[in-house]
Amino acid sequence: MRELKDSQLLKCFSYINGSWHSSETNFIVTNPANGEVIAKVSNAGVVETELAVQAASNALKMWSSKSANERAALMRKWFDLMMANQDDLARILTLEQGKPLAEAKGEIAYGAAFIDWFAEEGKRVYGDVIPSGSGDKRIIVIKQPVGVVASITPWNFPNAMIARKAAAALAAGCTFVVRPATQTPLSALAMAELAERAGIPAGVFNVVVGEDARGMGKVLTQHPDVAKFTFTGSTAVGKSLIEQCASTVKKVSMELGGNAPFIVFDDADIDAAVQGAIASKYRNAGQTCVCTNRIFVQDAVLAQFTEKFIQAVSELTIGNGLDDVNVGPMITSAAVAGVEQLVNDSIAVGATVVLGGERDQQGDNYYLPTILTNVTNDMPIAANEIFGPVTPIIAFSDEEQVIAMANDTEYGLASYFYARDIGRIWRVAEGLAFGMVGVNEGIISNAAAPFGGVKQSGSGREGSKYGLDDYLEIKYICIGGLNQ
Ligand code: SIN
Repeated sequence: MRELKDSQLLKCFSYINGSWHSSETNFIVTNPANGEVIAKVSNAGVVETELAVQAASNALKMWSSKSANERAALMRKWFDLMMANQDDLARILTLEQGKPLAEAKGEIAYGAAFIDWFAEEGKRVYGDVIPSGSGDKRIIVIKQPVGVVASITPWNFPNAMIARKAAAALAAGCTFVVRPATQTPLSALAMAELAERAGIPAGVFNVVVGEDARGMGKVLTQHPDVAKFTFTGSTAVGKSLIEQCASTVKKVSMELGGNAPFIVFDDADIDAAVQGAIASKYRNAGQTCVCTNRIFVQDAVLAQFTEKFIQAVSELTIGNGLDDVNVGPMITSAAVAGVEQLVNDSIAVGATVVLGGERDQQGDNYYLPTILTNVTNDMPIAANEIFGPVTPIIAFSDEEQVIAMANDTEYGLASYFYARDIGRIWRVAEGLAFGMVGVNEGIISNAAAPFGGVKQSGSGREGSKYGLDDYLEIKYICIGGLNQ
């Protein structure tokens, strides 16, 4: 961390009510690239989480009473500071998460874009006046902030997943508490430092870092002062958090797992499809909820696509994210073991390794970019969310068949296909049972677009004007007696 231009961005305490809180014990944060300890962080727990909710609750009236313009001005300063410190924030992110530095810089810009975008969109929270059918009454609809928002965020995007939630919440007039993943708390704490410098008032943005996932999670999902809970992570954990939220009937939004199909039709631009598949699959070493999980290729172009894809993937360089590489380590050796298991179980039932298929020598957390062919949709590597740098390729013959295979999953987050025929583009885009469809595009994430899934991939949307609605309540006001 000595290489940071601004060493004050490295914070090791929870940020509650505008102050840094130490606790009795610490936990360590390690670099997934080499296992080195990069920080010792004060281990907050239930008590600190309750304090953070209390602080957010106390700050709510002050923050929600500000005009959208006042909130936007503060958020804009926060955005400016994030961009001004992009290099340091990216370095911290790569050190704790592992992704290549260029990707980490991209994530900082992506996260900051939510702050900028929602700051502006907060100025457009309109209501309605509805004709009542009765001359002496008016029906008025206004939108108000839901209240205190609590969240739990993942290690794969330590900055952007917080920014995407917090920006919408703050723009709507809500106050915010986040518990980031313990693997990657430093990015969240650096964001808090910059929020403070931007002048975001005490209690509006709180970060609690600690290992007691269950205890802290219970506070965030069950505290009566929390109005809304939002989570990004696995479907299994999401389900249990939804259950916990039921006791106080919280508004919830969930961004959960995915099993994205990537379909290459016989009229596709094959070179563009190869580039799109690489971008979608190997971003963050395959550790994203939206990354391609299964590639389906139509018979007529199967050989051509597969050959070009193998060539392109074989050129990817793998290593420490601080070096000039395309693919970094995975987050833990347990994550590597999970991917290895899926690959081996699929080989046992007939899949063929045509590239990679084993760990990389550089350390416990590295798995080689891998391609499997002769895969069927029911093999473990296709039926499960891989969350690693492995691509199964599945052959198909016609449109109806591939839509059925693509939709044959409990997930419904992102999907992608490459085709040129306009009729086919409409039919397939409408037929895919996913919340997001990339057509001739492998990277679809954008602050202005609604990110979210259907089926067991979650509920609610993040980003875009729809994402702001998730942090607003609708209030109906009936004004009567107008003719008296
Ligand atoms: C995710 O993997 O959950 C988020 C990816 C993105 O926002 O692009």
